[in-house]
This record gives sequence, C-alpha cells and structure tokens, in this order.
Amino acid sequence: MRVLVVGGGGREHALVWKLKQSPDVKEIFCAPGNPGIADLAHCVNIEPSDIIALADFAKNQNIGLTVTGPELPLILGLADEFANRNLPIFGPTRAAAEIEGSKAFAKGFLNRHNIPTAAYLIVNSLEEAAAAIQEEAVGTPMVIKADGLAAGKGVFIVESKNEALNLVKALMKEHALGSGKPKVIIEEFLHGNEVSFFVLSDGSKVLPLVTAQDHKKAFDRDEGPNTGGMGCICPATVMNTEMQKRILLEIVNPTISGLAEEGRYYQGILYCGLMITTEGPKVLEFNVRFGDPEAQAILPRMKSDLFHLLMEVAEGDLKQQDLEWRNELAVSVVMASGGYPSNYEKGKPITGLPKGKVELDNDLLVFQAGTKVSNGQVVTSGGRVLAVTALHYNLKAAIDRSYAGIKQIQFEGQHFRKDIGHRALAHLSGDNK
Ligand code: AMP
Ligand code: GLY
Repeated sequence: MRVLVVGGGGREHALVWKLKQSPDVKEIFCAPGNPGIADLAHCVNIEPSDIIALADFAKNQNIGLTVTGPELPLILGLADEFANRNLPIFGPTRAAAEIEGSKAFAKGFLNRHNIPTAAYLIVNSLEEAAAAIQEEAVGTPMVIKADGLAAGKGVFIVESKNEALNLVKALMKEHALGSGKPKVIIEEFLHGNEVSFFVLSDGSKVLPLVTAQDHKKAFDRDEGPNTGGMGCICPATVMNTEMQKRILLEIVNPTISGLAEEGRYYQGILYCGLMITTEGPKVLEFNVRFGDPEAQAILPRMKSDLFHLLMEVAEGDLKQQDLEWRNELAVSVVMASGGYPSNYEKGKPITGLPKGKVELDNDLLVFQAGTKVSNGQVVTSGGRVLAVTALHYNLKAAIDRSYAGIKQIQFEGQHFRKDIGHRALAHLSGDNK
C-alpha cells in the first residue's frame, strides 16, 4: 500500500521511519518532509495547510492511507475533505479537533462532562479580566492562555496581579488585531507532575498507548520560556498501573464518549496533557496529534505494526487491544538553534548526521526537524533542528547514550538542555527490565 504522511518535522520523521517497517507499506510520500525524511520517502512539495492539494494528491496517487502529523490541517478540516472524497485518513474531523483548536471549547467541554481540570474563567474584555485578577478568582500564581492555536506559545504563568493584567492587555491587543474575537482564559495554576498520556480511538473504542514526560522549558532546571518541547522520556516514570486506570476512567473514557455524545466522533490519536496533582489527574490540554518530541521517543519503543494500527483507526474499527512495546526506556534530546524559542539564526551547516538513515548506531536514532539542504549540505532551517533518541533498560544509561549521540552532531549556535530526564532520575533509580 502507498502511504502519505502530512508534515515535515521530527514527529513526521519518526512516523515515516516506523511506518516503513511495516511489510504492507510499499511506498511512502511525505508533504512536505525534510532532508532526513527524504532518505526514507518521496518528499512532495505541498504545505500541510493546503488541504485541497493534499486530497487531490492522495486521489491521483492512489494513496491507501494518509497520516496527519500536525494539528493545523485537521483543524482546517483535512479529515472532512478526505471523508467527502472517500479517501482513508488517520486524524479527527474539524469538529472533533476543536478540542485542541479552541481552549475555550475544551474547557467548556471538560466542565459539561465533569472531567477534572484546573478552575478557569473566560474573559472577553479587559474590564472582566481586571475584576477577575483583582479578586484573585483563581488564586496566584495564575495561568493565562490565549484562545486559538498558538504553537505552544500562548500560555503564560504569572506570579503577580500586575504582571497578569499587563499580559492580558497585550494579548487582547494582539488577538483583536488578528481574529477579531479576543478571548483569554485565566486559569488556576496546578502543582504536580506533568505527564503526556496517549490513546488511540476509533470513535468509541479506546486503546491506550504509552506515557511520556516532556521538558517544555527552554533551559536547564526547567527555567526560561515555554517551548514546543526540549526533550522527553518514555515511559513517564511517575506513572503506575493504578494511575493509568484512574486516567482512563476519569479522563479518557468520558472524553471519547462525551465527544461522541456531542456528535464529534474522535478518530485518531488523543494526546492528553495532564497534571498529576495530589487530588488526582487533571487535564491541562488536549492535542489531536502525536507529540513532538514525544513521537520520537514513543515510536522506537513500539514493536506492533503502526501501519495496521492507524489503518484500523481510520477504518473506524480498532481491533487490536494488546500492543507490544520494548522494555527499554527511550530518551529523546532536542538540539535547537541558539535563541529558540525567540529569534534564531538559520542556515548553519550541520555535521555528524547519519548518512542516508536514522540510525547513528544501534538504538541511537536521529530524527530531523528544522533542516534543509542548501548547496548539497544539510543546514539548519528551524528552531528545533533535530532530536537524538537512545534506548536502554537503564534510564541513566539511556540519557548518557543520547548525550553521546548529541556530541557527535554539531552546528554553530546549537542549544540543548543538559538535564533531560532529571525528574525521572529522581523517581526511578533502577532498571526497567
Ligand atoms: P498547554 O498548552 O495548555 O498545555 O500549556 C503549556 C504548558 O503550560 C503545559 O504543558 C504546562 O507545563 C503549563 N501549564 C498550562 N496550564 C497549566 C496550569 N493550569 N497549571 C500549571 N501549569 C500549566
Ligand atoms: N511536546 C509537546 C507537544 O507536542 O505539544
């Protein structure tokens, strides 16, 4: 079968790499892909937001399954367009994808279905915001979020009322200029351990995948601004079977059934961003896609055939219930351009990449993200440039191996966190055999 993967980052590199291992996948196309992906698939020059061109391509090229990496095309209605044309696609419809696309919708949904989340207020004007902040309606610190997609940059944690008010002012101004409907959410700050929990659903049945722990802050010791993710470990060591049961019962099942009740059947992967608090698991956010860099850590641990699994979801009949995973832990460290997530330079030549493949060594993988070819040389072209994933039974050994991989790769201005896995190391000081 021919498969099309939509996207061109590290997550899509990992998806292409894993899908290619299926004996039933004959050829992979990726739109737009990147130089790493080009070693494994045919890169097609179509932007992920161009849903008509993607559907035309899938039809003309007789694509048996399209797998969507990023959220934007789904929120724009890619799955709806494919469904209208009877083209198989892995990813939820526009209505179901609103659970990520609008934080205000997600919060209202969680409340309607009694699913635990942080207390919140949606404010539509500066006056409302000022009153809520003055009353400390959700306490301090507080979390301020802009509605709509903000690529991980729309969430701010503020310590003081003054800071909160200034931020709301700035957001309202920015949003008023853009969408014309300034909506800001002021949320209770949740303390605890953050975990990413992934499940597949065909609209009614649910199949849990694994957990992962991302490191969202730009700098060591979890300091600096939020990023898309600077590194990740899989599985999350703060999880146990009891907590997994609670998450399924209290969060995942009511979410999938609640969406179905509201006519928003969820077919795809649901990424639950959770805070494990002393009161139990609470939802921070939902995403309608694999995480990045979570996918680069999760997929190398998967023994099951990813293509079969995604096809079952796309067909609306998830049959598999027991997935096989490698016992080794995976640690993925992101190498970013200096300055990321603010302004950064591009076009820096990268040395030390594995040639024509993902494997730097056995169980040491390099997934490319912000790279491009310029004058025959792979150079940087984005904020997050690549991720190095290592697998090992022992967490410390996996971390060390990943950093040994990072050392082999160089580009000017490179930036990476030196402490990926630090919280996990504190939880787990043994083997995962
Ligand atoms: P979100 O896009 O809503 O997941 O927010 C991005 C990041 O901000 C999360 O991964 C958390 O690290 C942090 N965050 C968001 N909401 C809260 C909250 N209510 N309490 C504490 N941290 C939060
Ligand atoms: N790593 C966080 C995300 O993919 O949203």
